[in-house]
Amino acid sequence: MRIRTHIETAVFPVAGRGTRFLPVTKASPKEMLPIVDKPLIQYAVEEALEAGARRLVFITGTSKRAIEDHFDNDQELENLLKNQGKSALLRQLRSVLPSYASCIYIRQSAPLGLGHAVLCARPAVGNEPFFVHLADDLIASETPVLSQMVSAFESKRASIIGCELIPHKDTNKYGIVGVEGKGITARIRCIVEKPKPSVAPSNLAVVGRYLLSPLIFKHLAKIGAGAAGEIQLTDGIASLMNEEAVYAHRFTGTRYDCGNKLGYLQATVAYALAHPELGKDFRAHLKKLIKK
Ligand code: G1P
Repeated sequence: MRIRTHIETAVFPVAGRGTRFLPVTKASPKEMLPIVDKPLIQYAVEEALEAGARRLVFITGTSKRAIEDHFDNDQELENLLKNQGKSALLRQLRSVLPSYASCIYIRQSAPLGLGHAVLCARPAVGNEPFFVHLADDLIASETPVLSQMVSAFESKRASIIGCELIPHKDTNKYGIVGVEGKGITARIRCIVEKPKPSVAPSNLAVVGRYLLSPLIFKHLAKIGAGAAGEIQLTDGIASLMNEEAVYAHRFTGTRYDCGNKLGYLQATVAYALAHPELGKDFRAHLKKLIKK
């Protein structure tokens, strides 16, 4: 039997203020926005746990306390549900974070960029490959995307970046890679942060899933500010590529960009339609609404 690679640590950069969702994100983290009955960050954590991660590192900032509370025990609420005999809810509440997982919270002292946020995780990650998961990118798939990336890692033994083809006109919204060949997992020859369509190397975009070699930290520490005056993870990866191969992996699944309102609404509708308890009634309601 083949023993699966174990990636122990997942890093969740959650310090961004979510200005596109103001005023709802003034006092609440955007990662706590619900998709039906779970916040975005819970989908992120579930995906990382399914892929084998056990150490969850959140890079937080101002107004993000609700994330810590969400993954903490709430004895008072548990007692209340117990006394009310609401055992199903109690089970759901307890499964938010299984006992084998642990959470580490690190403050990103200033909004210096995604690369800087990942660098903040260095003391908690150690010298092992690790996941980076951006909760904004919600991906519905039979096999969670991080698990798909572990399989790619097992064959390549190198950093793997989750990618998908996007409309060419949108290259300025993503990190864009140029790759060798047409394989599902292809070696990256160049990576650029948010290039204009006219200079983009392709329309293969980086989405919020990374399985990174720990050598990335050395590179993030030495690169300066890049696009938008921020320390970009994309630039760190470009620098890492001088030392190690990095692969783009085109995952299977449907991505919803929950960092903008339309993507968020699309995710809400898709997940509500697929919900085991609500799906049927919600579909009937939508049909009625559309006919009007
Ligand atoms: C970040 C990365 C970008 C990547 C994107 C995926 O950008 O910098 O390379 O394509 O996430 O969601 P952001 O969306 O934070 O501006």
